[in-house]
Amino acid sequence: MIGTPSQLSLECENAPLFATLSDDLRQLAANDRIRILKPRAGIDISSNDYLGLSHSALLAQAITDAVARGVSVGSGGSRLLRGNDPEHEALEEEAAAYFGSETTLYFATGYTANAALLATLPQRGDLIIHDALIHASMHEGLRLSRAQGVAAGHNDPTRIERAITDWRTAGGMGSPWIAVESLYSMDGDRAPIADLVAIADRHDAVLMIDEAHATGVFGVGGRGLAADLDGRPNVITLRTCGKALGCEGALVCAPRVVRDFLVNRGRAFIFSTAPSPLMASAVRASLRLLDTEPERRDRLAALIAHAATALAPLGIAPTGSQIIPIILGNDAHAMAAADSLQARGFDVRGIRPPTVPVGTARLRLSITLNVDTAAIDALADALATVL
Ligand SMILES: Cc1ncc(COP(=O)(O)O)c(C=O)c1O
Repeated sequence: MIGTPSQLSLECENAPLFATLSDDLRQLAANDRIRILKPRAGIDISSNDYLGLSHSALLAQAITDAVARGVSVGSGGSRLLRGNDPEHEALEEEAAAYFGSETTLYFATGYTANAALLATLPQRGDLIIHDALIHASMHEGLRLSRAQGVAAGHNDPTRIERAITDWRTAGGMGSPWIAVESLYSMDGDRAPIADLVAIADRHDAVLMIDEAHATGVFGVGGRGLAADLDGRPNVITLRTCGKALGCEGALVCAPRVVRDFLVNRGRAFIFSTAPSPLMASAVRASLRLLDTEPERRDRLAALIAHAATALAPLGIAPTGSQIIPIILGNDAHAMAAADSLQARGFDVRGIRPPTVPVGTARLRLSITLNVDTAAIDALADALATVL
């Protein structure tokens, strides 16, 4: 993934208007941070298609059936205008019943949903305390928010609570909002959810939990790691649909007042064409599959256990999840290792700052049903050579 300036057409002589952009790209290349798009190739060790549903015949059939019943490809407008389709509403009702939340609201992507949550809900005078490793989409919302934001280390409930008490002592009068992921996307570790909800209860705070990587994989029926918190008045969860569910979009699971507020005040919801009704149909089918095909989760759990055993001799610690980071530190080193693995037929990606903190560039292994135990063993052999 390391591109050279010549590959990237950085000749600013030809584009003087964009000289600043070219300079920036050149700088990224010099620092081993340049990104280029590559065709999909090799054994999947990098996707978030944890249950192998994205290309499944079952979801393809759901789309075919939806087309046959007349569901349209495009929504034709914002949900608040003509874009509100019965498929969106059916999905939201079924998802609320599935996750046990009072309501859900379907967004076109998890990125927009997270950004909308943080930009819209906390008000001026409120405090957003967030884990240091939250996803870029939550940071986007933080940038747009009128509330003050503060990072509180990683998986450190004590620091979160202290941030709230310090803020109250300093005269903070508004509401605290705590923003975390339940399963961290680049580390594969879990948030201390029970501690966080206790803090939220003690301090009249709202807990916002991004379940992007836990949805479909963990919890009863794949309902996620925060499944037993849905329906609480002070908890909002986000279930993205583009990872284990194999589709696209995201469901905000929240009390009704939060949904109503997002519909009235959430700019990313209001001023945007509604997601494809066909995609809503596919997500409905995917949610049904979570219940009817629990063996997918069982097979994934067995593969995760197999990977832990296969990687242990290399000193790679298990995370207890499908996401396994191998932290190499140096950006160029991580990208070179990824290139070597790709040359051996494994689609392993290097992850660099700003996606992860400086000095923690890594390989991110992702275990999905798109591989079998033999592929994991072969990957372990390749890693032994490359590392
Ligand atoms: C933790 C987390 N939240 C949100 C998102 C954004 O979701 P989407 O891909 O649906 O935009 C991602 C995507 O990578 C993610 O990893």
